[in-house]
Amino acid sequence: MSFPTTRLRRLRYNPVLRDMVTETKVTTDDLIMPLFACPGKGVKNPIVSMPGNYQLSIDLLVEECKSLMNVGVRAIILFGIPEEKDETGMIAAHDDAIIPKAIDAIKKNVPGMYIIADVCNCEYTTHGHCGVIVDGDVENDQTLDSLVAQCITFAKHGVDMVAPSDMMDGRVKAIREGLDKEGYYMTPIMAYSAKYASAFYGPFRDAADSAPKFGNRATYQMNPPQTNEAMREIELDIIEGADIVMVKPALSYLDIIRRARDRFDLPIAAYNVSGEFAMVKAAAERGWIDEDRIVKEILTSIKRAGSDLILTYHAKQFAEKLLK
Ligand code: PBG
Repeated sequence: MSFPTTRLRRLRYNPVLRDMVTETKVTTDDLIMPLFACPGKGVKNPIVSMPGNYQLSIDLLVEECKSLMNVGVRAIILFGIPEEKDETGMIAAHDDAIIPKAIDAIKKNVPGMYIIADVCNCEYTTHGHCGVIVDGDVENDQTLDSLVAQCITFAKHGVDMVAPSDMMDGRVKAIREGLDKEGYYMTPIMAYSAKYASAFYGPFRDAADSAPKFGNRATYQMNPPQTNEAMREIELDIIEGADIVMVKPALSYLDIIRRARDRFDLPIAAYNVSGEFAMVKAAAERGWIDEDRIVKEILTSIKRAGSDLILTYHAKQFAEKLLK
């Protein structure tokens, strides 16, 4: 059947019908809000390149979690800004380090909040790289120790899920074995599997004070032109025991999300990263775009590409006023 019998505009005419035939709807169940925990009390340091986001001391972090819950955002991913850094990142695995303390406080005061901990070393190392430095580059196998140690400590403090973002080979296997050995066999791993060496992380590195002091992350994060390699990364993480795999960043990598969706059956997450957020905010500040509509369109496109979970700094704003 073709025109004039078939008219696709018929289904677009009425707003109720348009809603009824909508294929992709983002809800707060899909969203994970990233939050930054810092030392101190009553501290709320604005992150300049990410308007509306702050480094929060744990007391205020708890308040933020309550207000997220109130608007229906029930999952967060935590990043830590430590008091002190070391050479290996092992400092992040102490019981009184910033993330274990944040987990304790949130679990106690906002029990329904689902807490995911980002697991990496770059926020905790003096050199800002994601692992142990040997001969001027990140040494893969030695780095696994601090990642596993972080995961075990976080699990001991009741974290709901760990999310390694370091891109070392074999880290999912090491973390799974480490957690299982300690009895935390029910703690899921969301692996940053296809994580690209991207310029879109710029604002985050200011927020987390995690920019590398020398060189870049190109020897461990993926090269942006790669797609087959992303499938290998994801496949290996699945074999090693990942429960959820992630593609990061999201917007310039929607093709990777779609390829992964068509090929793998486990849940896929996408990280709508800091630079993607900053661009929207900057253009909106100038009045060049309609921010609310753009945010909705962006999150919908990420879900439409095939991701089940979306990590996004827009989560609260979306829940507060865009849900309809
Ligand atoms: C840590 C980490 C980074 C991000 C998440 N975890 C930064 C990086 O790899 O340099 C980026 C998040 C964002 O840009 O929003 N390795």
